Amino acid sequence: MAKKRKILVLHGPNLNMLGKREPKIYGKLTLEQVNRKIAALAAELGVEIEARQSNIEGELVGWIQEAPKEFGAVILNAGAYTHSSIALRDALTAAGIPAVEVHLSNIYKREAFRKHSYIAEAAVGQITGFGVNSYLLGLRAAVEAL
Ligand code: DQA
Repeated sequence: MAKKRKILVLHGPNLNMLGKREPKIYGKLTLEQVNRKIAALAAELGVEIEARQSNIEGELVGWIQEAPKEFGAVILNAGAYTHSSIALRDALTAAGIPAVEVHLSNIYKREAFRKHSYIAEAAVGQITGFGVNSYLLGLRAAVEAL
């Protein structure tokens, strides 16, 4: 498959705990179940996804740096790094491929510190508050941006 049709899905810190972690906020699906739903929609849309998760900021930075070699777009849920990481934002800007920012919860309806995203200005757009559907809407947006 041409590199343009491959999309990298990155999950940041604590998203490996999905299903167990504050299910009222983040839902009951595990990360594996979320990834399966994304992959199923990707197949329908005729694209391939690769999903990775890390609790380590530098590892996410490294994956974003390498992404343009293999992927046409990135879907990023940076978790709490959304609100703290200039490094992730800089990596996305430097990578130069379209990025879609996603969040399971609505970051604007929660604590004040979640209202600012360092990722937003480096992204094509942001989808926040639709649970697993944030990823699915994000995938549709990423496909459009390819
Ligand atoms: C999150 C929102 C962040 O504020 C939080 O730190 C997360 C998950 C979300 O998907 O709703 O870890 O990115």
